Amino acid sequence: MFSISLGDGAELQNLEPWQTEEFLAHVERAREYAGPWVPFTVTVTDTETARTFLQSYADKQAADTGRLYGIRLDGTLVGGVLFRVFDTRNEYCEVGVWLEPSAAGRGLITKAVTHLIDWVVDERGMHRVEWLASSANHRSIGVAKRLGFTLDGVLRESFPWQGMRHDMEVWSVLAPEWRERRTAEHDDHRAARADSSS
Ligand SMILES: CC(C)(COP(=O)(O)OP(=O)(O)OC[C@H]1O[C@@H](n2cnc3c(N)ncnc32)[C@H](O)[C@@H]1OP(=O)(O)O)[C@@H](O)C(=O)NCCC(=O)NCCS
Repeated sequence: MFSISLGDGAELQNLEPWQTEEFLAHVERAREYAGPWVPFTVTVTDTETARTFLQSYADKQAADTGRLYGIRLDGTLVGGVLFRVFDTRNEYCEVGVWLEPSAAGRGLITKAVTHLIDWVVDERGMHRVEWLASSANHRSIGVAKRLGFTLDGVLRESFPWQGMRHDMEVWSVLAPEWRERRTAEHDDHRAARADSSS
């Protein structure tokens, strides 16, 4: 199976309709933690809704208008990354993420999204990657900042969900910014290696 190692027993893999039962069990573990921010973790409640959700992303993938990937830790599905929007004509995409609570705090999302942005920028010609998060979602905003995204603005009270009108922050990184940051990080690693061996 397609698989990218994220280190320490974690893998980034495809997530497809044939994995419906496993996906539903994962969503049940994630619901309480992710539900305030990620609607599908509330609306996916049974085999039918789980399969419909995975099939919608399989269809998007076939049309090249969206993508969905799972993150496994020691073989168990613990989260994922999706491209809700994947617009190759206008060269922009929107990335979304979630975990179940047991997998948080290990850098899995930061590492998975780094691989995927490398791919969309280097191989798919994307110029702009967007990250939307409620201004109340500090952990999500923390990841966007850690990845070098810039805050473009706030869509005030644009997302009514579970009795709250969320202010949605729009963060983005542009392809030249991503490449520049990557080069700077490689230079830092090289300098650190040279320091430690001298
Ligand atoms: C948003 C969410 C995915 C972020 O999860 P996360 O675990 O904070 O993000 P990462 O997997 O990138 O891990 C980063 C954390 O691991 C730590 N970490 C450990 N090793 C790390 C590494 N090698 N690289 C980066 N971070 C590492 C970081 O310090 C950070 O912890 P801190 O915030 O306490 O400092 C998670 O909180 C979640 O699923 N929330 C519910 C759903 C949700 O809100 N989705 C987003 C909707 S916009």
